Amino acid sequence: MEIGSDPHILAFPFPSQGHINPQLQLAKRLISNGIKVTLLTTLHVSQHLKLQGDYSNSFKIEVISDGSENRQETDTMKQTLDRFQHKMTANLQHYLQKAMDSSNPPRFILYDSTMPWVLDVAKEFGIARAPVYTQSCALNSINYHVLHGELKLPPESSTISLPSMPLLSANDLPAYDYDPASADTIIEFLTSQYSNIEDADLLFCNTFDKLEGEIIKWMESWGRPVKAIGPTIPSAYLDKRIENDKYYGLSLFDPNQDDNLIKWLQTKPPSSVLYVSYGSIVEISEEQIKNLALGIKQSDKFFLWVVRETEAKKLPPNFIESVGEKGLVVSWCSQLDVLAHPAIGCFFTHCGWNSTLEALCLGVPVVAFPQWADQVTNAKFLEDVWKVGKRVKVDEKRMASEEEIRNCICEVMEEERGSEFKKNSLELKKWAKEAMEEGGSSYKNIMEFVAMIKQS
Ligand code: UDX
Repeated sequence: MEIGSDPHILAFPFPSQGHINPQLQLAKRLISNGIKVTLLTTLHVSQHLKLQGDYSNSFKIEVISDGSENRQETDTMKQTLDRFQHKMTANLQHYLQKAMDSSNPPRFILYDSTMPWVLDVAKEFGIARAPVYTQSCALNSINYHVLHGELKLPPESSTISLPSMPLLSANDLPAYDYDPASADTIIEFLTSQYSNIEDADLLFCNTFDKLEGEIIKWMESWGRPVKAIGPTIPSAYLDKRIENDKYYGLSLFDPNQDDNLIKWLQTKPPSSVLYVSYGSIVEISEEQIKNLALGIKQSDKFFLWVVRETEAKKLPPNFIESVGEKGLVVSWCSQLDVLAHPAIGCFFTHCGWNSTLEALCLGVPVVAFPQWADQVTNAKFLEDVWKVGKRVKVDEKRMASEEEIRNCICEVMEEERGSEFKKNSLELKKWAKEAMEEGGSSYKNIMEFVAMIKQS
């Protein structure tokens, strides 16, 4: 299908849950301002996209292979990433050869910042381009310093001072040593996001000026315009008056229990339910899950806990039966609908960047339980900079006890500090909404981009 004659851009996200939705949300805003978008993605992702509304004339999906059909059990992380890059580069070139000869070739490529080789291909074809960073700008700063040899991971000193950032301790820096065999590969993969930015037209970040303004300003010292375009969550969740924008694009898991779940939440008093989730990737040890289960139970709060199918066997025997009406365990849910529900009083989160932004946008205080990567730094900001919750203390094996888990939940949901966290959360929620509404800082950045595309 041809995409019509209006200005046309290509969106090329990394094919995983936490990376696709931010680009889809941006795409949706561009489409509603007269830009056509082609999403380049894998078959697996395309099969899970939920498109609500009539996008047929302005949105198109092109499926390309990432080489995962040739994956071997024994492949290392490096082999997997190398094959991904090799295959995707060739397929992108192939796609562009055809697209550039069509009646409406793409004028711009938005690509996931973890795929810097897209920039080289775009340059080869003479197409303007911008990476989309899907983690916080604090992470961008840390990764950038690592790339330039000014910081090591793990760090060599106990406190780390970086421009425009709070003083960080070693425990606040991203951790990649959960799998020592692939730590170096992952660090190389993440720092490569900044390796060729001098050739990017713009840098887009899923954050907003009031949240990370100082760091955004510092990033401009890299020599490229940095544009915050977040938080990239559907408008309906930021503004109750906008009901028709709930479409959230991708769920790689099936939220099959949503109806029961929302009915269950309806029966609970305001701010009385603890929501527990650790995203789409994190795996937690059986021992830690046991402490988590006991800590949650001892807090004596209502709770809704997402335990993905692959994690379910780690729950203590009879746990679900033993909590009765007090708790609900589901394998996946529509997280935004849950966080937006008035019954939710606290989000026990692994602090993935999307979950972090979603908690902030919906004004829900958190118990931060980071496991690795950027989650650790996000937890530092949630607790010490934005002051919307409490971070769980862990021992030298990074284990949290059941008492610590219970105490954190109770502090956030009950005590005087709890109301302070709630007050700060509501302030952040207001800022997030302001950034995205007409005239707001992210809104303006998106509209400037629309104007730039239309003029190109
Ligand atoms: C990964 C990394 O782990 C994270 O550190 C990084 O910041 C982004 O990429 P993930 O672990 O999946 O992401 O966490 P997160 O960024 O929080 O994204 C999870 C997404 O899944 C969120 O948008 C959340 O709303 C959604 N989700 C999660 C659901 O819709 N339902 C669920 O039950 C759980």
